[in-house]
Amino acid sequence: MSLSLTYEGVDKIFDKGSKHAVHALKEVSFTINPGELFCLLGPSGCGKTTLLRSTAGLETITGGRIFYGDNDVTTIPPFRRNIGMVFQSFALYPHMNVYENVAYGLRVRKLPDAQVKEKVTSIMELVGLGDVLKRNPSPTALSGGQQQRVAIARALVYDPDILLLDEPLANLDAKLRRYMRAEIRRIQKATNITTIFVTHDQEEAMAVGDRLAVLRDGIVEQIGTSDELYNKPRNPFVANFIGKMNFFNASITGAGEEGYQVRLSDGAFIQLPKGNSRLDHDAQVGEEVLLGARPEHLAVGLAKTANSMTGRVTIIQHLGHIVRYEVKVALEASERTLEVDMDGLVAGIAEKDEVQVSVIGSKAAIYTRKGER
Ligand SMILES: Nc1ncnc2c1ncn2[C@@H]1O[C@H](COP(=O)(O)OP(=O)(O)OP(=O)(O)O)[C@@H](O)[C@H]1O
Ligand SMILES: [Mg+2]
Repeated sequence: MSLSLTYEGVDKIFDKGSKHAVHALKEVSFTINPGELFCLLGPSGCGKTTLLRSTAGLETITGGRIFYGDNDVTTIPPFRRNIGMVFQSFALYPHMNVYENVAYGLRVRKLPDAQVKEKVTSIMELVGLGDVLKRNPSPTALSGGQQQRVAIARALVYDPDILLLDEPLANLDAKLRRYMRAEIRRIQKATNITTIFVTHDQEEAMAVGDRLAVLRDGIVEQIGTSDELYNKPRNPFVANFIGKMNFFNASITGAGEEGYQVRLSDGAFIQLPKGNSRLDHDAQVGEEVLLGARPEHLAVGLAKTANSMTGRVTIIQHLGHIVRYEVKVALEASERTLEVDMDGLVAGIAEKDEVQVSVIGSKAAIYTRKGER
């Protein structure tokens, strides 16, 4: 049976009390559901590995509690927590063949040989390495993707309650990475083991996770599905970490039942539905806000309208499913390059042309300017 995983006010200060103290996790509280594939995402140094190591009991947290199901494991040593872990720099044992690498956790648990064989065989089938096991080479004779699978098999073989994967695909090339992330999802769904997958690659997190948490400086900025984080990011940090967002300084010029009207610094007016506010309060006329628009929330054209700004196309890139226009605009006393995604080429617009960039008010959103770090 799969377990939930709960963090309650988890705090971690390395070298607490010394002048080199690092506050790596700050009051982290959330729950991962039983059988969930949960991604931890965030920039380097934000605390991803620390949270994973704390979950495994490899770091002693300085505050808060961690539960597996209803069981408080905060003070339980790592070897008493039934956890499978693939480390950031996954290391297979080079002096052992593949079979012994995977069998290691079972040997430590003193399982009889026949059971070891059965479990190793079935887990290697699950990760797609049945044939490799028959040859049973040294791990050094395997490709990167195969080694990765062995590392995952090694963590899964003793039926852990929780599986922790710390950037398991970091050492693979882009194509294999994309393939392996689908594999990880397939394997996780087949075993239904509650899993945390750490990555700093937003595309990977969105593709793999049932839900994700975005971490910054030891703080959970937002938790949600890929769809929620992409379409309703809580703040500019999350918006820019999950995809790309163009931000504009704006002021509220109208507020009513129908929504908000905002004015950009170059005079463009944009009308937004009320639901497109990410503020935690009703905005007032005169309030200064940020207008956030993803590339697909902007459009290029030739006609000047009330919600458009004038710019010049610098680059047109055909990206297959979309065409990306980079447009320089003069805004807020500086030149800014906007990214605008269109479904196809726009007739009559070439590089170096002057164009109008309009904001699709039904899709853009407003954010607070306060408290931005
Ligand atoms: N053993 C340690 N002693 C002191 N500080 C540490 C220790 N381990 C990590 N830190 C610090 O804690 C913070 C979080 O580190 P952590 O390894 O969790 O980051 P991360 O999100 O995994 O980053 P990356 O994406 O680079 O792996 C960093 O500032 C790091 O320098
Ligand atoms: Mg790390």
